[in-house]
Amino acid sequence: MICLTLAEPTLERAKEKVQKNREYIDLCELRLDYLDEKEQKMASHFPSMVDLPVILTFRRVQDGGHTQISEKSRRAILFQALDGDFSYVDIEEDVKKSEIEDKAREKGIRIIRSLHDFEKIPDDIFSKIFHMAEKGDIAKVAVTPRSFLDVLTLFRAEEELKGVEKIVIGMGEYGVCTRILYKRLGSLLTFASDEEVAPGQISAHKLKVEYMADQVNERTAIYGIIGNPVMHSASPLLHNRGFHAINFNAIYVPFLVDNVRSFFMFAEYFKMRGFSVTVPFKVDVLSYLGNVTREVKQIGSCNTVVRVPGMWKGINTDYYGFIKPIMNDIESGRIKNALVIGAGGASQAIVWALRNYGVKVTILNRTLSRAENIARLNLCDYDSIENASSYSGSVDLIVQTTSVGLYPDVNQNPIEGFKFTGSEIVYDIIYKPRMTKLLEEAGKAGCTLHFGSEMLIEQGKLQFEAFTGYHYPRWVDPGL
Ligand code: ATR
Repeated sequence: MICLTLAEPTLERAKEKVQKNREYIDLCELRLDYLDEKEQKMASHFPSMVDLPVILTFRRVQDGGHTQISEKSRRAILFQALDGDFSYVDIEEDVKKSEIEDKAREKGIRIIRSLHDFEKIPDDIFSKIFHMAEKGDIAKVAVTPRSFLDVLTLFRAEEELKGVEKIVIGMGEYGVCTRILYKRLGSLLTFASDEEVAPGQISAHKLKVEYMADQVNERTAIYGIIGNPVMHSASPLLHNRGFHAINFNAIYVPFLVDNVRSFFMFAEYFKMRGFSVTVPFKVDVLSYLGNVTREVKQIGSCNTVVRVPGMWKGINTDYYGFIKPIMNDIESGRIKNALVIGAGGASQAIVWALRNYGVKVTILNRTLSRAENIARLNLCDYDSIENASSYSGSVDLIVQTTSVGLYPDVNQNPIEGFKFTGSEIVYDIIYKPRMTKLLEEAGKAGCTLHFGSEMLIEQGKLQFEAFTGYHYPRWVDPGL
């Protein structure tokens, strides 16, 4: 079940949020601590204002609540609200037997016993959950993983607590995957918001439409992307849309990871068949791979890991994604030489890809030694980025691989003042914004342009094939 948290000042506003998200949610949680004082007194009417089950909650400040209020008053408001037809009431696990509990039991309202920890995962979390659920209540723990190893602990909840009715939520950015894969934690429900305003929140729309999180079952194959940061990644949209379109029972999840080792433990535990790798782990994963393709070996970085019998295999689809959009121009001889701006990880793969097809390359970089290193490995020339203008009129292809011009610094151009003749093909691998300052200037001069999103889509489609064995469905918009 997907539960929309309602943190609104009035019941009417809360009702509007329910209506707006109605098709994505199964129930909602009315947070009395966000309601205006006058509205709190009328909260008992809320269940009859909406057409789905409602959880009644008045969070204390120490548990992340919004209103400073005496415990006596808080309980009195909760007690009064219970006159309404709520389906569940949230009572903190340290609240001793109370009149709220008695009233809820009398009325057949299910009790959710809750425990919050904004700093860590408390010791003994499984025995705590077990005790909280003892009286036939639903145990809820909202805790904060501080590493991916902590996340792994939460995912063990299902195995450790089979048959216990529970809600398990990992808060913060590490916890995002627990909210999406809630069913694989054995969690009865997951909490969603209307909009994503704080780190770790996910909108109801995203959970229901993009991830189809409520459709996950024990046979659903888990795929994903590891990175740090990772939440901005466009890959989940591309892969999930592809999976849904071909009826492939799989889900693709962003995993914020602090070290690769703990993620491989997760991947083994859930028998993952593959995952994508982004910055800064493209080199770190290499030592866990039993087999790599020629590209990975040559480039020294891997963006796709797939399961093959007995081991993990590394593939590099960045290389293919980059080259595919300009392949015809290389094969026809229109591109014979290239200027590659930048000498980071992305440049390494791109320079190798171009050299692999016989294109002559000059690397320009701010730090000359980094350009020299890549040039030496790939038999090409290198120069300082300050000399960019001297190459005007003598190159067929210009590839921009630095982070200069990336959102939010959209007005920057790493080769400001470069004179385009109009015959160059200019390719910027930045995809946000689509039209970078560099591309804009090249476009004005009449150059042929290639966008970062082309590379992203092509590498993603090849990855999809490696994951599923099927082509990416042609009729699907990968969302970029
Ligand atoms: P990636 O793996 O995405 O390629 P990276 O390895 O951090 O990222 O490389 C970033 C590239 O952008 C480098 O070429 C870097 O130049 P330096 O090697 O001199 O650091 C380049 N870059 C970043 N900021 C830059 C700036 N303000 N001006 C020029 N180049 C810049």
